[in-house]
Amino acid sequence: MRLLGLQAVGFRNLAPLDLQTDASFVVVHGKNAQGKTNLLEGVFLLATLKPLRARRTQELIAWGQEGAVVAATVRAGGLARRYKLQLGAGGRTLSLDGQRAEQADWFEGVRAIAFTPSDGEIVLGGPSERRAWIDRAAFTKAPRHLDLVRTYRRCLEQKSTALKAGRPDPILLDALDEQLAAAGAAVVRRRLDILAELRPRVAELHRRIAGDDGREVSLRYSPSIADGGPEEVQQRLTDKLARARKEELRRRSTLVGPQRDEVHILLDGQPARAFGSRGQVRSLVLSLKLAELVAARDRGEVPLFLLDDLSSELDRARTARLVQTLSDLRAQVFITTTDPSHLDALPSDDTLYVELSEGRVSAEGDAGGAG
Ligand SMILES: Nc1ncnc2c1ncn2[C@@H]1O[C@H](COP(=O)(O)OP(=O)(O)OP(=O)(O)O)[C@@H](O)[C@H]1O
Ligand SMILES: [Mg+2]
Repeated sequence: MRLLGLQAVGFRNLAPLDLQTDASFVVVHGKNAQGKTNLLEGVFLLATLKPLRARRTQELIAWGQEGAVVAATVRAGGLARRYKLQLGAGGRTLSLDGQRAEQADWFEGVRAIAFTPSDGEIVLGGPSERRAWIDRAAFTKAPRHLDLVRTYRRCLEQKSTALKAGRPDPILLDALDEQLAAAGAAVVRRRLDILAELRPRVAELHRRIAGDDGREVSLRYSPSIADGGPEEVQQRLTDKLARARKEELRRRSTLVGPQRDEVHILLDGQPARAFGSRGQVRSLVLSLKLAELVAARDRGEVPLFLLDDLSSELDRARTARLVQTLSDLRAQVFITTTDPSHLDALPSDDTLYVELSEGRVSAEGDAGGAG
C-alpha cells in the first residue's frame, strides 16, 4: 500500500499542504510544535476515519476556520484511489474517486497502523487500554469489527440503563442478554482470531527488535475460552450472564462480558508492566504494532505505518533493526522526529525528508537534504 500524495487545507496548524511522494520512508522533521504530528494525524484520519489524538474530529479543524479537507491518493493491489474527507460544522463527508462514499466502502484500499509515544499505555495502563488495542487490531484486519463493537455497546448501554433504573422487566433483560451473548461472542471471536495471528509474530519480532536482552513475550486472553467455536463462546457468555443476573440486579450494573475481559501481555510469564524500562516498553509495543503489519502482509497488503516521535527511547541498534524490519516488509513508513540525524539507517535512495516549520513545508529532499 502506498500513499502517493497527501493534501490538507484548514487542518490543525498546517498551511495548505500538497505532498507528492512514493518513497518508502517519509521523514517529517522540525522543531517542537511545528505540526509534524498533525501531518501524521492527517494520514491516520484518512486511513481510519478516527482522530489519532483528539477526542473529537472537530478539534482537527484549524482554529478560526469553518472546515477542513484532507485528501490522498493511495495505491493498493495495483489500484490507485482518491480519498477525500471534508470536516465541517455538520460532520464529515467522504468521497472516493470523486463520488460521495459511505464508510463501509472506505477502508477497502486504505489502512494504517500508528505507533505513538502514548502507546506505552498499552503495556503500562489498565485493561481498557489493551482492549482498545486489540479491538483496533481486529478493526485493521477487518473493519467490520467496529460495527460489532458498536452493536455490542449499544446493547450494553440499554441494559445498563435498565438496571440503573431499578426493577427492570425480566423479559426485557432476557432479550437483552440474548443479544449481548450473540454480539459479545462475535466480538470475542474476532479478538481471539487476531490474537492467534499476532501471537507468534509478536514473539518473533520482539526477539528481533529487542536483540539479546529480549525476553519472551506472550499474549493471553482471559477469561480463557477453550478452543471453542462461535457457538461455544456464545453459550459460555449466555451461561455467565444467567449466573450473574442476581448480582447484577443487586448492584444495578452489568458485570460480565467482553467489556471486562483482559488481554495479558507477558514478558517471561510476568505482566510486562512490571518490567518497564522505557526502552523495553517501547520495543514491546513496537513488536505488537509490527506484528499487525506482518499479519496484514501475510494476508496480502501492508498498511501504512506511522511512527510518531521516533527519536527518544530507542537506541541506535534497535532503531537500525527496526528500519531493517520495515524495509524487509516493504512497508511505507511515515516518521516524525525532531532529530533526523539518528535515522542514518534509512535507505538514502528511498527516503523523503520533509521539514516542517510553523505548519509549512520548508524543505523537501532526499537524504542529502536532511538538516
Ligand atoms: N485545530 C488547530 N488549529 C490550529 N493549530 C492547532 C490546532 N490543533 C493544534 N494546533 C497547534 O499545532 C501545533 C503543532 O502541533 P504538533 O503536535 O503537530 O507539533 P509537533 O511538530 O509534532 O511537535 P512535537 O515535536 O512537540 O511533537 C501546536 O502548537 C498546536 O497548538
Ligand atoms: Mg509531535
